[in-house]
Amino acid sequence: MKLIAAVDKHWGIGKNGDLLFHIPEDMKFFRSMTEGNIVVMGRKTLESMPNGKPLKNRINIVLSRDAAYTAEGARVCRTDKELSEALSDADKDVFIIGGAQIYKQYLDKCDTAYITHIDADGDAEVFFPDISLMPEWRLTQKSEKKEHNGLQFCFATYEKN
Ligand SMILES: NC(=O)c1ccc[n+]([C@@H]2O[C@H](COP(=O)([O-])OP(=O)(O)OC[C@H]3O[C@@H](n4cnc5c(N)ncnc54)[C@H](OP(=O)(O)O)[C@@H]3O)[C@@H](O)[C@H]2O)c1
Repeated sequence: MKLIAAVDKHWGIGKNGDLLFHIPEDMKFFRSMTEGNIVVMGRKTLESMPNGKPLKNRINIVLSRDAAYTAEGARVCRTDKELSEALSDADKDVFIIGGAQIYKQYLDKCDTAYITHIDADGDAEVFFPDISLMPEWRLTQKSEKKEHNGLQFCFATYEKN
């Protein structure tokens, strides 16, 4: 399993149920990594997507503890066990795509994290765990600095030792 997230300089990822920044090149990177694969997200992240719709060209799995919750075009899993069963015969890459609750719970099960670092303070309410401080994770790749509307960002890959 892999994680993919865009974080600000404090590892913030969202506020008011939305992303902190919208950077087209980051969206494109996210699409290129996840298309054709399986994406796993929390119910709040699905609801934060345009019209609350699942992502196209991907198998969408949504976690919710609400027994009555359904999401058109997505498979809903209510427990970690249900998710494991849903993924047991997966022949595609599995990406944990957020939000904060889901990143935190699945960090231990992942071996690679694709992190877009945005050099700004987005005044976030929810955060990705700061894996740069965790000895089991190491930075293995970092792109050159990029810029969009004055926002500097780069793409980094972290892998578990
Ligand atoms: N920057 C980024 O890369 C990025 C990526 C994704 C999201 N985000 C942002 O993150 C924010 C949302 O994150 P969040 O932490 O508030 O919510 P979230 O993780 O997207 O969803 C939380 C919900 O997931 C369900 N859930 C959590 N753990 C579960 C478990 N073990 N089993 C079953 N269901 C479980 C619960 O749904 P029920 O309440 O229905 O039970 C819970 O309320 C938004 O601001 C979003 O824009 C940022």
